[in-house]
Amino acid sequence: MRILTGIQPSGKLHWGNYFGAMKSMFDLQEKGENFMFIANYHAMTTVRDGKALREATKEVALDYLACGLDPDKTVMYRQSDVPEVQELAWYLSCLTPMGLLERCHSYKDKMAHGFEATHGLFAYPVLMAADILIMQSDLVPVGKDQKQHLEVTRDLCQKFNNAYGEIFKMPDAYIPETVATIPGTDGQKMSKSYHNTIELFDVSAKKKIMGIVTDSTPMEEPKEPEGNSIYEMYKLFATPEEVAEMAAAFRAGGYGYGTAKKALLQAYHRLFDPFKEKRDELAKDPDALEDILKAGAARARAAAAPLMEKVRKAVGL
Ligand code: ADP
Ligand code: TRP
Repeated sequence: MRILTGIQPSGKLHWGNYFGAMKSMFDLQEKGENFMFIANYHAMTTVRDGKALREATKEVALDYLACGLDPDKTVMYRQSDVPEVQELAWYLSCLTPMGLLERCHSYKDKMAHGFEATHGLFAYPVLMAADILIMQSDLVPVGKDQKQHLEVTRDLCQKFNNAYGEIFKMPDAYIPETVATIPGTDGQKMSKSYHNTIELFDVSAKKKIMGIVTDSTPMEEPKEPEGNSIYEMYKLFATPEEVAEMAAAFRAGGYGYGTAKKALLQAYHRLFDPFKEKRDELAKDPDALEDILKAGAARARAAAAPLMEKVRKAVGL
């Protein structure tokens, strides 16, 4: 089984990315042939600074390696190191009805957030379909927000195969229902567009955790933990016993948000401090990182080459 996922290097990764996307990829690492790529072409739809994009691409690679990606088990590559995806995106574009893209929420959402209506943003799902189909992926772990893009991919897979013969494999999305939407420091969905994130290796994690917005129920009063951001975040980091303990303390009363925030901070450090140590080590050797990415690209291109030969022949080139 081939498992593939991608992440955009469009900013520093945060807790939402870790628990919503990275972790399910690490959990699947033992289960198949894995591919993880850094979607730097996709990030160009929103990042207009070459230096920042190059840096962010490396940062994302370091984050993944530090948090659990094993380059012997997962082929990690930069999207731009497999330029054949652009070629395939064009072939797919020629079969993509405008209406299919016009219906995409992510495009409409970007417009609503004031982004310029570029062709790149509009065609984003076609490039994503090319990423997935070119690797003959069976399973694509993504967050809920990407569900529609997977539907577009499946649609294009079908259209291509109907037109040119059974060439592409039909991929399935893998969206674990257990993965909740991680709240940000203000209680709404954690997202870099909302400026409410806590980054994986955030130097101001303490300040941000202590600043998580809470209601003003007095300390002594019993509180319902479910739905409370601190408690919801704590669930991600703590053991089931620790979670049950915090829930009981909230319900009993006499347990304040400040104490809960301290417990959250501690649990965060327990998980991420070892990753941070590993990251610092990896960051000392940029050449080794480059070697991992280059080796990953070579493997990804080799996997895509025979399929692309078939595709070119089928379309008449
Ligand atoms: P952002 O919203 O910060 O721009 P992205 O859209 O780049 O994040 O997210 C990349 C992936 O990380 C998403 O597909 C999703 O799976 C996951 N993700 C991001 N934020 C959250 C969140 N708050 N809760 C759960 N998963 C999230
Ligand atoms: N659109 C995805 C996101 O923002 C990133 C992505 C690009 C991707 N190409 C992909 C994810 C292919 C999975 C497979 O999260």
